[in-house]
Amino acid sequence: MNNRLDSILRDPSLVTPALVLDFDAIDTTYLRFLSAFPGAEIFYAMKANANPLVIKRIAELGGGFEIASLAELELALSAGGAGERILCSNPIKNVPFLKRMHEVGVYAMVVDSTYEIEKVARHAPGARVYIRLAVDNSGAVLPLAGKFGVDGDTALALCDLAQERGLQPIGIMFHVGSQCLSSSNWVNAIQSASDLWHAAAARGHHFTFLDLGGGYPAGSYHDASIPTIENIGMDVMMAIHEYIPHTPGMKLILEPGRAMVAEGGRLVVEVVGKAERGSETWLYLDAGVFNGLMETFEGFPPIVQPLDEESLERPLHEFTLAGPSCDSCDVIARKVALPETHIGERLVFFDAGAYTNEYAAAFNGFPIPQFIGLGVERHQAHVETELEHMPN
Ligand SMILES: Cc1ncc(COP(=O)(O)O)c(C=O)c1O
Repeated sequence: MNNRLDSILRDPSLVTPALVLDFDAIDTTYLRFLSAFPGAEIFYAMKANANPLVIKRIAELGGGFEIASLAELELALSAGGAGERILCSNPIKNVPFLKRMHEVGVYAMVVDSTYEIEKVARHAPGARVYIRLAVDNSGAVLPLAGKFGVDGDTALALCDLAQERGLQPIGIMFHVGSQCLSSSNWVNAIQSASDLWHAAAARGHHFTFLDLGGGYPAGSYHDASIPTIENIGMDVMMAIHEYIPHTPGMKLILEPGRAMVAEGGRLVVEVVGKAERGSETWLYLDAGVFNGLMETFEGFPPIVQPLDEESLERPLHEFTLAGPSCDSCDVIARKVALPETHIGERLVFFDAGAYTNEYAAAFNGFPIPQFIGLGVERHQAHVETELEHMPN
């Protein structure tokens, strides 16, 4: 932990719950992506953390944005993201959103149904479109499969229909699932994309766009079983060279959300209550599944420890961690091993920069964690120098 971050987290006057995000970590991660995936372009998935300061930082780094809604579009534009540096990979878009994307010249948008193609053709005539391919999500902690995506044959029929309706089918995207722990998910998806790429070419569609989606995992500093951005980049780039036909002017897109912002974030919470119930000892925190820790409700394991290092000397116990609200589903995790912990003490959740405040609501009157950005103003010269030396 760097010293400034450490002193903010340990400041007893810090009002909890608090999400502290280190912006230097975003710079570092952005550069790691660029060097692990040479030639790829980053379109940050805003849903992971759409704090305007984060959006501004990504725009300063030269990143584009993957958006899902009209509000995200306006935010990306106001942070300086030009229309052509914006993609929409949400397969379901309402009419006002489509019209505004058309007006500002969003580079391209995804489609995965005949209905969506008809809607896009009507409200964003002539748009570039790409098809969302359904791929295996089994290596991911949070699988996203099922709701979106089509098989290869359906994708071909959609390309034909898009062309007939005056749209420009330019390529393919997929999502391997969030916090994907196996690079073979991407490799297998690239093989499926390759089959579609060739079949589409045989029907006269010239693809120039391959979007590898999100899914890059966070947490590589805490758990050696989590592949790094570099591990994934190596396997993915080899697969692309092997399976995707060399296409001059091809756009290779990454849509990282979690990995871009999670590791820079720490969520500091206070223990506001404690109870023995049957065999369980409960700790009630001032943030729960409604106001910051929603992902734990989806089965995501929290990485948590006491803020006060002296308490690490105490004997370990298993706790059930719960949020402060009156709703009985507000349980963060069970069987969490922590040193003996008392009311008034603080805990810190790691890798908390993504899908925390973004999901949060002040349900039952419990506030969304205050946001503290560290290094927001300090856009390091060395980042710009390194960006200049990145391969294109
Ligand atoms: C279309 C799309 N792209 C990118 C992402 C970002 O995924 P992750 O945060 O796992 O990188 C998501 C997340 O749901 C998504 O739906």
